[in-house]
Amino acid sequence: MRVLGIETSCDETAASVVALDSSSAPQIMSPKILSNVVLSQIEEHAAFGGVVPEIAARAHVEALDGIIEAALADSGVELADIDAIAATAGPGLVGGLIVGLMTAKAIAAAAKKPLIAINHLEGHALTARLTDGLDFPYLLLLVSGGHTQIVAVRGVGDYQRWATTIDDALGEAFDKTAKMLGLPYPGGPNVEKAAASGDATRFAFPRPMKGSVQPDFSFSGLKTAVRQAATAIAPLSDQDVADICASFQAAVADALGDRVSRALTRFRQQFPAKTEPALVVAGGVAANRRIKATLQALCEQAGFSFVAPPLKLCTDNAAMIAWAGIERLRAGISGENAADFVPRSRWPLDSVSAPMVGSGRRGAKA
Ligand code: KG4
Ligand code: ZN
Repeated sequence: MRVLGIETSCDETAASVVALDSSSAPQIMSPKILSNVVLSQIEEHAAFGGVVPEIAARAHVEALDGIIEAALADSGVELADIDAIAATAGPGLVGGLIVGLMTAKAIAAAAKKPLIAINHLEGHALTARLTDGLDFPYLLLLVSGGHTQIVAVRGVGDYQRWATTIDDALGEAFDKTAKMLGLPYPGGPNVEKAAASGDATRFAFPRPMKGSVQPDFSFSGLKTAVRQAATAIAPLSDQDVADICASFQAAVADALGDRVSRALTRFRQQFPAKTEPALVVAGGVAANRRIKATLQALCEQAGFSFVAPPLKLCTDNAAMIAWAGIERLRAGISGENAADFVPRSRWPLDSVSAPMVGSGRRGAKA
């Protein structure tokens, strides 16, 4: 089984071919990433301190054809030998989604291949099966620039969102903190770098939601606390910036640890028969060493294995989309009418869990 994946939901233009050897026993999965091409648009957006949707959509239009050609060439597979095309159809920036899904529809129609519309979050949710062959159920912590969620992954197409953010995504909080402190975009890696030489005890920032029974997240109060601290001592020296970053990172790691430990407990209660439970992290914030160390320690304490797929597959990419396509094909739920599928800027992975306060009249975004 060979699937071409296409990803354009945010600021990465990506295409990939993933193969699964169908001759191996069904219980032994041996998927292979034959190609994985990702073009980041960071430079186009850096001057604005965040992703500008219209610039992103135009950049996808310019780059996508070449990226797909490169992914096919790298894989050594002809389009004729591809079994299906899987494209991200939501949630995300609608301009980019239109570019990716329409391109996928055109290729599918011209090459007479089935098209599978993939929820971007499902791509993140299933990556640990591509990289580590994980069995269902497991727990996923997704922490990126656009999403902050804890999801119980029970099967292909079977997800329970246990927690989400009631305001900013965690990556967004890193990016906004960096911007306030005059650090360049994207903020996360720069906050982490500055924090390395800072004093994490100098500022007592709040640990948002700590102690709340529901494992949800909130970061806007923390962001405000950072702004107030920075304003109070301005102008900031390099050491001030380092201390604020270190204190911010400590608050985030602490709050995240509290939220995740509640989810680990809930997982034990809900899946008592699962003998080797696992926590998987995905999203760009998973690159943060302090956060990773906190999660690793929590998992050790709770008897969970901690799975952090290689960063290239944790951040936005098309291999995870191709893989979600393969999973759907194998499960027989690839969807019949993807040719008519309309891109969805909002598309919750779990349609049952109630939207959070603050998600607006149109309901949950993701
Ligand atoms: O998953 P990702 O690459 O893309 C999208 O969200 O689409 O995540 C990017 C986010 C950005 O907000 C970035 O600042 C954050 O991940 N990030 C980090 C680190 N590296 C990237 N946050 C904290 N520490 C890092 N080392
Ligand atoms: Zn993503």
